[in-house]
Amino acid sequence: MPEVLAADGLGVSLGGRSVLADVSFRVAEGERIALVGPNGAGKTTLLRAIAGLLPYAGRLALRGREVTGWKAKDRAREVALVRQQADLAVDFTARELVALGRAPHLGWAERLGGEDRARVDAALGAVDLDALAGRPVTQLSGGEQQRVALAQALAQDAPLLLLDEPTAHLDVRHQLDLLDRLRALTEAGKTVVAALHDLDRAAAFADRLWVLAGGTLAADGPPTDVLTPALLRRAFGVVA
Ligand SMILES: Nc1ncnc2c1ncn2[C@@H]1O[C@H](COP(=O)(O)OP(=O)(O)O)[C@@H](O)[C@H]1O
Ligand SMILES: [Mg+2]
Repeated sequence: MPEVLAADGLGVSLGGRSVLADVSFRVAEGERIALVGPNGAGKTTLLRAIAGLLPYAGRLALRGREVTGWKAKDRAREVALVRQQADLAVDFTARELVALGRAPHLGWAERLGGEDRARVDAALGAVDLDALAGRPVTQLSGGEQQRVALAQALAQDAPLLLLDEPTAHLDVRHQLDLLDRLRALTEAGKTVVAALHDLDRAAAFADRLWVLAGGTLAADGPPTDVLTPALLRRAFGVVA
């Protein structure tokens, strides 16, 4: 399988403090990875670094090329990030915001074509937003806004999808819908790395778990290998 990501000795400092240190991994196309770890472990930081939003030390390659070496628009065709807090305080309808996901595929001042509009419609439908597409996003609930952010990433149609606690504000039905959809996307060849706070959900969803603790990757493997009582104690300070 082609290699999507490769990190070697990746480190990120924020505000003069080391948040991630010596993180190394490989990700192949079609993998479904859940990123877990206690609050403040660096999950958001890692996803932001992969998306090209943070300076880092060490090597972090996207499709063989250093993440920071990509032009932003080219990189946006390769990787989409759904942020943790969907706080969409902009004067747009849901459909307009989702349509922005097509920007990396358009030329300067180019308008959406038929295929773009079809993808926007499909993305809205995929997260069950058809009926709300014309509503201003400021009038949507937190969970609905989160689904708009997801739809935007789906419309972006990047082969690598990064999601930061995408189920946090969703009701149970939409949580399960989302995880099913992500699974279907990986079966169709996309690659997904998702920070998930619920360990059981993460284990059921992923074929690989990354456990971040103390600023490093404390474990990287199939859920059944990784979720041992010893590791849970070490990473989360809990007794399983
Ligand atoms: N801009 C920043 N400046 C300094 N420290 C930060 C900044 N952003 C996050 N941090 C710190 O980095 C650590 C990791 O944060 P984060 O990646 O958000 O963790 P997680 O998503 O796992 O909860 C936390 O200790 C957090 O306080
Ligand atoms: Mg976070």
